[in-house]
Amino acid sequence: MQTSNILAGKTVLVTGGCSGIGQAIAVAAARHGAKAVIVSDTTDSPRDGGDPIAVRIEELGVPARFRYANVAKRRDNDVLVEAACEFDGVDVMVLNAGISLHADGPDVSEGDYRRLMSVNLDGMLLGAQAAACQMRRLRKAGSIVLMSSMAGIASGGKTVAYSTSKGGVILLAKALAGALGPDSIRVNSVAPGVIDTGILCATPAVAAVAEGFRHRTPLRRLGLPAEVGDAVAFLGSDLSSYISGITLCVDGGLLSVI
Ligand SMILES: NC(=O)c1ccc[n+]([C@@H]2O[C@H](COP(=O)([O-])OP(=O)(O)OC[C@H]3O[C@@H](n4cnc5c(N)ncnc54)[C@H](O)[C@@H]3O)[C@@H](O)[C@H]2O)c1
Repeated sequence: MQTSNILAGKTVLVTGGCSGIGQAIAVAAARHGAKAVIVSDTTDSPRDGGDPIAVRIEELGVPARFRYANVAKRRDNDVLVEAACEFDGVDVMVLNAGISLHADGPDVSEGDYRRLMSVNLDGMLLGAQAAACQMRRLRKAGSIVLMSSMAGIASGGKTVAYSTSKGGVILLAKALAGALGPDSIRVNSVAPGVIDTGILCATPAVAAVAEGFRHRTPLRRLGLPAEVGDAVAFLGSDLSSYISGITLCVDGGLLSVI
């Protein structure tokens, strides 16, 4: 595991931070020297078991808090961001929470579609608005990182609603980058390829083709959540101080080949 001080002095907040990629982002923030990490989710029980993630981060010597928030609700986002005031406000807002659907083909139900959009897309806008509002108030040169997916760039037809939401996330990041740049707030998105987490099994049609993805990926393996965590740490840090509006693919090269 890489460690550094690239996030020194920064308070990092991660939504959907109690399992999979989100917990790896939270731990990576601590490994890269964050001043404090606020982990948010709808549950503080990690899907893969073990101690709550905030406890694990405290064991690394970094102050951590867990705050419940349903990202689909504006008030939850606003209250969540205010929790960062304990550590002088949020510097790096990572909007990672997301869901996939069991059945997400062309006949996806309207109810499932709206439920997914409320988390994967509305949740991104509401979280970014809450963070940007505080960053402007505190005159912080903040970084907002939105979790997209390779499925938001290319789609195999098995994830109609999911891909639509993740494509929207990429353009949301670009639009916000343009709007918030004059306030020195950077906004970028991250597009992971196939990362080995619980969400993979949530859509059986995707789980069934995961092995094929591994074979087609130039690096010939699935990605690790920690590798996404390191990419997010870079975008949150001053090492990326002139980078805004991009989509950083963390996919082992998969999107570069046909
Ligand atoms: N695993 C992959 O291959 C992959 C690839 C590309 C993108 N992603 C994206 O990465 C992000 C994390 O996915 P993951 O693979 O770690 O899956 P995961 O299911 O392990 O994590 C998602 C987290 O979001 C939380 N969450 C769900 N609904 C929420 C809500 N309404 N409010 C707050 N939190 C909520 C869940 O409790 C969970 O902790 C998602 O946005 C996902 O779309 C994953």
